[in-house]
Order: sequence, then structure tokens, then C-alpha cells
Amino acid sequence: MTRVREATRADAAAIARLHRDNWRVAYRGIVPDDLLDAITEESRRQHWNGVLAQRDGTEFVYVAEDEEGRLLGIASGGPEAGGEARYHGELYVLHVRPDAQGRGIGRALVRAVAQRLAADGITTLLVWMLRENHPARRFYAALGGQFVREQPAMFEGIMLMDAGYGWLDTTALRQ
Ligand SMILES: CC(C)(COP(=O)(O)OP(=O)(O)OC[C@H]1O[C@@H](n2cnc3c(N)ncnc32)[C@H](O)[C@@H]1OP(=O)(O)O)[C@@H](O)C(=O)NCCC(=O)NCCS
Repeated sequence: MTRVREATRADAAAIARLHRDNWRVAYRGIVPDDLLDAITEESRRQHWNGVLAQRDGTEFVYVAEDEEGRLLGIASGGPEAGGEARYHGELYVLHVRPDAQGRGIGRALVRAVAQRLAADGITTLLVWMLRENHPARRFYAALGGQFVREQPAMFEGIMLMDAGYGWLDTTALRQ
């Protein structure tokens, strides 16, 4: 049984580890090896400590865990951050451990983010991913996301290309 719940500050270290590990696998061949290998758990921990410590923060974080409390996936979302006119909500981060993929956990985490945004009155959703991240692109297309466009984006200090997918109505995504 997988459970999805809102993250707490106590989750920061486990989230950081999963995030670092997943980048190294999912972005291999897209992001240069030396950059990927230089990403430390500590730098990710600082990032997530900061996000989870925000008292009035607008970014919210969800985790998926198994019955023993082992972290299987993470997602974060909040207001659309880049000024894309038609979209008001954004999925900032989504990662499922490689050995837990293909079991509906990614879909459940996107649902949690979409439901949380809808509770705040936001029923549109945008997500950006690396343009060459084809498995993620297929996943978002399977969830009904429409291709928006490509744009340059900074990833850990280097310029890469992103692809955006969006939902102008998240009703189906929330069910
Ligand atoms: C992309 C990712 C989040 C998907 O999570 P997941 O738990 O494996 O996906 P789910 O099992 O919830 O799949 C949901 C649906 O998408 C489909 N899908 C998932 N991955 C797919 C792929 N690579 N190609 C085609 N369809 C895919 C599934 O078949 C499923 O469809 P169905 O419900 O109609 O059967 C996960 O693979 C991941 O963490 N990848 C590495 C990190 C990453 O790229 N994150 C996104 C960065 S923006």
C-alpha cells in the first residue's frame, strides 16, 4: 500500500537523497556527467530544508511512502512561477524511485498537487521538464497534458532546453 501525504521538515534528508539519486539516473545522457556527479546530497538537503521551513511558503510538498514509511516519491507545486499567461498552478518537482516506477505513484502525486491547487482555487497546471526527458514527456502526455512549448532553462548553472506541458482544466487529473 502506498500512502501520499504532505511532507514535514523531518522528511528533508530523505527527500534530498531521493532527489539526488533520481537526477543521476533520469538525467544521465542529458546533463553532462561531471555536473550530475558533482551534485551532493548536502546541496539538495539545503534546498529542501529551505522549502520545508517556509512558514508562509507558497511551495507545498507531498511524499509517497510504503507501509514501512520508506520514501517512494516526491512532488512539489505552487503558483506558476514563470509568467505563463494561461496557467496559474505549477508542478515544480516530481520524482519516483526507479524501483517504484510504473505503479501509479507518479499519477497519485500529480493528483495530490492538482487537488491542493484546486483547494486554493487554481484549476490549471503547468510543468517543465528537460526537453530530452522523453519518458517524462510520455508520462505527462499519458496524463492528458498538452505540449506548450520549448524554452531555454538553467539547470545547476548551465543552460539547457526545457519542454512545457499544461492542463487548462485539471478536473480529470484530480479524479
Ligand atoms: C516520470 C515519473 C514521475 C512517472 O512516475 P510513475 O510512477 O512511473 O508513473 P505512473 O505509474 O503513475 O504512470 C501513470 C501513467 O503514465 C504512463 N507512463 C508512465 N511513464 C511512462 C513512459 N515512460 N512512457 C509512456 N507512458 C508512461 C503509465 O503507463 C500510466 O498510464 P496508465 O495509468 O494509463 O497505465 C517517473 O518515471 C520518474 O520519477 N522519472 C524520473 C524523474 C523524472 O523524469 N521526473 C519528471 C521530471 S519533470
